[in-house]
Amino acid sequence: MSFDPNAHREASLESWEEAASGWTRQHEAMREFAAPVSHWMIDATAPQPGERVLELAAGLGETGMLVAELVAPVGGVIVSDQAEAMLSSARERAIALGLSNVEFQVLNAEWIDLSVASIDVVLCRWGYMLMADPAAALRDTRRVLRPGGRIALAVWDALDRNPWMMLPARELRERGLSAAPSPGTPGPFALGSPERLRELLEQAGFAEVRVEALELHRRHASFEQFWDSTLDLSRQLHDAVLDRPEAEIAEIHAALAERFAPYTAADGSMDIPGRTLVASAGA
Ligand SMILES: C[S@@+](CC[C@H](N)C(=O)[O-])C[C@H]1O[C@@H](n2cnc3c(N)ncnc32)[C@H](O)[C@@H]1O
Repeated sequence: MSFDPNAHREASLESWEEAASGWTRQHEAMREFAAPVSHWMIDATAPQPGERVLELAAGLGETGMLVAELVAPVGGVIVSDQAEAMLSSARERAIALGLSNVEFQVLNAEWIDLSVASIDVVLCRWGYMLMADPAAALRDTRRVLRPGGRIALAVWDALDRNPWMMLPARELRERGLSAAPSPGTPGPFALGSPERLRELLEQAGFAEVRVEALELHRRHASFEQFWDSTLDLSRQLHDAVLDRPEAEIAEIHAALAERFAPYTAADGSMDIPGRTLVASAGA
């Protein structure tokens, strides 16, 4: 079947609105796991006091909120996402953190509702690969950046470098509960090639493109914690698994515990490797 971008946009919005409660539950674990990625992005763009920063596909706004203090008091951060439910959790976090220079805007990163050359820095952690047209999103990102502005982004590396998702995906495929994504369609691992990422940034008109890989570790106290966290964070897995009869869910649970045995220590704790690509460039 051919890819229908509008059907994808509609389904993505619905699914991320639904995922927001799980992401909110897992916020602390996610914050720890993903901190090296945010720090790489912040170091690469070096936001300065007084600058205006836009976080795209921000989810709970983790990276943008780390930057808020760096650009304060005159500068500020716009935390944006397509999903209102994500931003409503993000708003609560900003209040809890006492941040007064963070605004929130529901927007689709493929058509950014902001003026040309109005932003100094764009940050987007694990967003572009999910979009129907990442090339259009990167072109529009460059449009809103002032000349000399900077971008930093992260996308997952290839699936086989990310066993935390490869093993569940394999289990579901072997059970006929999910299909391999068609090449060229959006998804968590759709931009997992440094060459493709560089090409997309250059084609969008960015200069001084830098692409690197970061090794990450998903650490959990037990398989049970990993299972809950995975179902909270991946709507696709959540729906594929939890729609099944109880006996089959128990089978999938047991099969996955076995698949993850190589990453499980004697005390039951887990350390599962993963790899993300990070990139920065100038507008
Ligand atoms: C994997 S989550 C990442 C959230 C956050 N950036 C982080 O790293 O924790 C992906 C987010 O991208 C958002 N998203 C996906 N496509 C989008 C689009 N076209 N425009 C704006 N947001 C989008 C989703 O709503 C979701 O909140």
